[in-house]
Amino acid sequence: MSSPISTSRQGDILVVTSDNPPVNALGQRVREGLKAAIEQAAADDAIKAIVIRCEGRTFFAGADITEFGKPPQGPSLPEVCAAIEASDKPVVAAIHGTALGGGCEIALACHYRVAVPSAKLGLPEVKLGLIPGAAGTQRLPRLVGAEAALPLVVIGNPVSAKQAQKIGLVDTLLDEADLAGGAATFAKSQIGKPVPRTSEMNNNRDGVANPDIFDEFRAKNGRKLRGFDAPNAGIEAVRAAGELSFAEGVKKERALFSKLMTGTQSAAMRHYFFAERAANKIDDLAADTKPIPIEKVGIIGAGTMGGGIAMNFLSAGIPVNILEMKQDALDRGTATIRKNYENTAKRGRMSPEQVESAMGLLTPTLEYGELAECDLVIEAVYENMDVKKEVFRTLDETVKQGAILASNTSYLDIDEIATATKRPGYVVGLHFFSPANVMKLLEVVRGANTRDDVLATAMKLSKAIGKVAAVSGVCPGFIGNRMLSKRQEQANQLIMEGANYWEVDDVLLEFGFPMGPFQMGDLAGIDIGWHRDPSKVTTVREALCAVGRFGQKAGKGFYDYDEARQRTPSDEVKQIIADFATRSGTPQRDVSKQEIEERLLYPMVNEGAKILEEGMAQRASDIDVVWINGYGWPLYTGGPMFWADTIGLDTVVSGLEKYGLPVCDYLRSRAEAGKTFN
Ligand code: 3HC
Repeated sequence: MSSPISTSRQGDILVVTSDNPPVNALGQRVREGLKAAIEQAAADDAIKAIVIRCEGRTFFAGADITEFGKPPQGPSLPEVCAAIEASDKPVVAAIHGTALGGGCEIALACHYRVAVPSAKLGLPEVKLGLIPGAAGTQRLPRLVGAEAALPLVVIGNPVSAKQAQKIGLVDTLLDEADLAGGAATFAKSQIGKPVPRTSEMNNNRDGVANPDIFDEFRAKNGRKLRGFDAPNAGIEAVRAAGELSFAEGVKKERALFSKLMTGTQSAAMRHYFFAERAANKIDDLAADTKPIPIEKVGIIGAGTMGGGIAMNFLSAGIPVNILEMKQDALDRGTATIRKNYENTAKRGRMSPEQVESAMGLLTPTLEYGELAECDLVIEAVYENMDVKKEVFRTLDETVKQGAILASNTSYLDIDEIATATKRPGYVVGLHFFSPANVMKLLEVVRGANTRDDVLATAMKLSKAIGKVAAVSGVCPGFIGNRMLSKRQEQANQLIMEGANYWEVDDVLLEFGFPMGPFQMGDLAGIDIGWHRDPSKVTTVREALCAVGRFGQKAGKGFYDYDEARQRTPSDEVKQIIADFATRSGTPQRDVSKQEIEERLLYPMVNEGAKILEEGMAQRASDIDVVWINGYGWPLYTGGPMFWADTIGLDTVVSGLEKYGLPVCDYLRSRAEAGKTFN
């Protein structure tokens, strides 16, 4: 097999080119080829400088993640980087696409970095539960300073080439259309000069002069990083870069990297990396299925949900017609969209021009007829089957043939909704999560008659609007809410048996969720579905509504809230719960944290197994994708199904049995066979 690395001469420049689709990952053969090319250049007196570049859509996107966990095969990436840096002839990294992880580390080992303006550079290892492992944590701060290195290493988001140039990570920006030519010219201009080696630089003195920057960074990002191991290791490594020699710093990085690599968090996060990509693929769709072009989108309903959904398309540059029944509701909805964009602009994440161009794509309307030319219409009205059917009947009559009609329902039967139309093949569920402009998840609900091209369109579109999509079959609550209801059932039962509701929330917080079920109730509003009749109180929630405890917006729900929205458990609520427990004759007892955790989470795993058993999800990892992106399941455990695999399915089965909870056949049979879900 030919090497993915080739070399060619341009006068006295050796151009080293990698061609390893799809993303030029730094697999063994690439590393071997790079090292050989550097040796070739060193041995040839006619070569005076070297350019390293990549074919295809990107510069090296990092180490080859599929090699992780397998026996290492040399040369290692640190060795290749060391060989590049040691060259006495200037080596220039010519960057397009994304120079990520090990790719960025290769670039850091080169003596110069040139890039096209559209390129991005970053160290996303932390998103895989790792830190850079080829001296990235040691070279980057020496080049750009500790303060500028911290977000790159610890948060892991890439920076634009322009930003990279600003912090000194990129030397020069080159013409987008002629990177190869520009890089060769740049390399030529460096011939004969002493080569600048990043490992010998000392721009990282800022961290030594002001060591508080590390604690300040940790404090500033505390919430975002809670529970993750890798970010702290990243901070430690960057700090070490200022305190230790390069060689000692590299050793420190290696020790931290190796520990993370063998830990459960990184295994879970690498599982998630592939899970997210797998979730976008539909196994039984013909490879040549052509998505339908979506150039204009209609949205029915300009409330919180409809407005949030609209923003996804507007931000992606797709025109939206948004429909309401009444002018004031339409005006309110439009004003909210504008306010949301303006708030984003205030935080510096959008320019005023971008706000105007997004708003310029929005057409508010009261007339269904205005939606006639839309390629996709998404309904986001009240969750009521009759109302939804009426909307779909009208849409079917007004919107052009071949257009997709989607419902944002979170639990209603898509197939029944489709019966209101003469085009059931074009009906699909697109379940966005609130706030729809922020939450990453999109549950794509595949009806019995949904056409393949409609599904392919939904998956492609989800990527275009920056969502992570997972496909669900038609069942009540689909994947996410169906599993959530099992958790809620147990939460409600636990507080009847004597567990304090704040303890239930705290157990989930400690597990890594951003909030527990009762906090979530307060945030969403306890009065959702409240019949407003205090004489008919049959649940704790209704009892809370009857005394005006509607949730956070009312300053009190399950908890009392102060002005800073800090929550304190309420005696009044405790009494309401105790009264219910007495009336139902439920014996009171101490419930341990372990029991709370197991009773909340194991039934979810069982429901996930049932969802797989019924073919409602394509694969276990899709369920993980749903829960991580839609419900805050902690990423570092890999999602409910991966987590169950980690603790052992037999543990889950025996736990469920211990509490007298149901175990489905699929879960039991896999546990008995010693198998995992993933
Ligand atoms: N190793 C192996 N496979 C990779 C890969 C990698 N580093 N990066 C991407 N791929 C695969 C994907 O799994 C996908 O495969 P599939 O088609 O079979 O599903 C294919 O390449 C295309 O990837 P995407 O669908 O993600 O393509 P996009 O164009 O949307 O995104 C990208 C491209 C921005 C490069 C994105 O793939 C990405 O973020 N990749 C990971 C980057 C990364 O994490 N690098 C760090 C690796 S760890 C490291 O370098 C350790 C070092 O410090 C020692």
